Amino acid sequence: MSDRSQAIIGRNLNLVYERPGAEPVAALQDVSFTIEDGQFISLIGPSGCGKTTLLKIFGDLLAPTSGELTIGGSAPSLLRQRRVIGQMFQDATLLPWKTIGDNIALLGDIAGKKPTREEVASLAEMVGIGRFIDSYPHELSGGMRQRAALARAYALKPRILLMDEPFGALDEITREQMNDELVRIWSGSRLTVIFVTHSIAEAAYLSDRVFVMAPRPGRVVADVRIDIPRERRAAERFGAELTRCAEEIHHHLVTNMRKPDDGHDAD
Ligand SMILES: Nc1ncnc2c1ncn2[C@@H]1O[C@H](COP(=O)(O)OP(=O)(O)OP(=O)(O)O)[C@@H](O)[C@H]1O
Ligand SMILES: [Mg+2]
Repeated sequence: MSDRSQAIIGRNLNLVYERPGAEPVAALQDVSFTIEDGQFISLIGPSGCGKTTLLKIFGDLLAPTSGELTIGGSAPSLLRQRRVIGQMFQDATLLPWKTIGDNIALLGDIAGKKPTREEVASLAEMVGIGRFIDSYPHELSGGMRQRAALARAYALKPRILLMDEPFGALDEITREQMNDELVRIWSGSRLTVIFVTHSIAEAAYLSDRVFVMAPRPGRVVADVRIDIPRERRAAERFGAELTRCAEEIHHHLVTNMRKPDDGHDAD
């Protein structure tokens, strides 16, 4: 189900970091795309290729040096004002002196969307930590803290969820569980997700499309479509179709490791 009216369109996005006394860094060069409403997009690429930079442009934390990003025809600043952009990072960034329930409610409170006690309880239940609502962050495992961070983002009732390596610090099996939880929750609401990961398997498993990025200058070199029905993926995580998609992503990553202007230096 797509709704072009809420499409996210990037046109020739460039981002140059200017640093006094140092060479400017071309973090993004000529990045263009159209993302349909409700799509799950992963960004994958080696360290320094501009994934976080692009995510910050989505979240209106950075303005592109040139080019334009629009969300449903509007600048991202409008959505940020309406607080419909949720964010999640590698670290859960929960406030240690607040309970899990209060942490989940926090951003909603700040945004003036004041989730009720019942709403907070149901969000905690949704991410599988209903029993820990009165616990403090240090009493939870890393995976459970990320669940709380996911519930906190959902309390904003976002249209777009930006996730920067949210499961990168988790062990493989916990990460797989979190992938399944995320898909389950996302399937119920179908907001647009932009998900940064270093894991090829995770990107293939979760996404409708995977944007493969390359560094120096940071750019999108491939848009790999994962045309495998959601219902089949959980049962076939290591099946032939997902493996083929993972191989395609891997191929783009490896062939773009080198700078475009030198044929021999992989560094
Ligand atoms: N505030 C900044 N000032 C100057 N350069 C920056 C700044 N932030 C990022 N960069 C540079 O821009 C490039 C892209 O950085 P970015 O953080 O977007 O990469 P990334 O793909 O998210 O990397 P990682 O996988 O390590 O998180 C890098 O070369 C980085 O050093
Ligand atoms: Mg990053």
